[in-house]
Amino acid sequence: MTHPTLIRGEGHGDRPLLLDLFCCAGGAATGYHQAGFTVEGVDIVDRSARYPFTFRQGDALTFLAALIASGEIRRYAAVHASPPCQAGCALTVGTNRSQGWGGTHLDLVAPTRELLDASGLPYVIEQPDGKADVRKDISLCGEMFDLGVLRHRNFELGGWTTPQPAHKPHRGRVRGWRHGRYFDGPYVAAYGTGGGKATVAEMQTAMGIGWTDVREELTEAIPPAYTEWIGQALLAHVLSGAVAA
Ligand SMILES: C[S@@+](CC[C@H](N)C(=O)[O-])C[C@H]1O[C@@H](n2cnc3c(N)ncnc32)[C@H](O)[C@@H]1O
Repeated sequence: MTHPTLIRGEGHGDRPLLLDLFCCAGGAATGYHQAGFTVEGVDIVDRSARYPFTFRQGDALTFLAALIASGEIRRYAAVHASPPCQAGCALTVGTNRSQGWGGTHLDLVAPTRELLDASGLPYVIEQPDGKADVRKDISLCGEMFDLGVLRHRNFELGGWTTPQPAHKPHRGRVRGWRHGRYFDGPYVAAYGTGGGKATVAEMQTAMGIGWTDVREELTEAIPPAYTEWIGQALLAHVLSGAVAA
């Protein structure tokens, strides 16, 4: 695919560049790459052995703030962010307390959104179902992509929009034990351990992720099919802006 009219974002070859914040092992990143973006990821934990694209270790918000301050943000065409939910935020190093994030700050969504709005770029913020602080502009489920997980995820879209696809009825239950009773079903539980939860191999198959066998990374990942779908719409938005400019 060639995008000769692209004027913002510097991707490799003909692909616009997408910044993947809180990237983990690259479930989301892989979908954006499949959609046609070059991807660069940032995570506070060293994921370089398994993240499939250019990786930088550091605090995501400090990194984004520095890009905005230096003007280097113009290298990018779009940003995706998967800030951890509160339980995961203990990892935050907090290198920039004066601006309200890091340290003991447990909600990274609001400061992430603030910086993303300041970036001027179209963006996507992802959160699990049940988190009230992200708009549900798009809600996706594994059944929409014939996956072996349900994994409902909500996506807030900033600076662009695309219609919500129809939610497909589930084919059955998530396999496992609940309240002393075993249920069988077409989906595996890709979180936690015990109680009939998925093995590493089952999670890999169910989500379409074959490049990491680290259980924690699989339980954190967005199935690439989700962000391939979002990425196709985001790419069309980025390219339409480039043509119009
Ligand atoms: C929910 S996971 C992201 C999953 C990823 N989008 C995927 O699809 O594979 C959240 C990640 O945020 C990272 N993280 C936590 N606090 C961070 C911070 N302050 N800066 C950068 N990364 C951070 C964690 O190490 C974890 O890998």
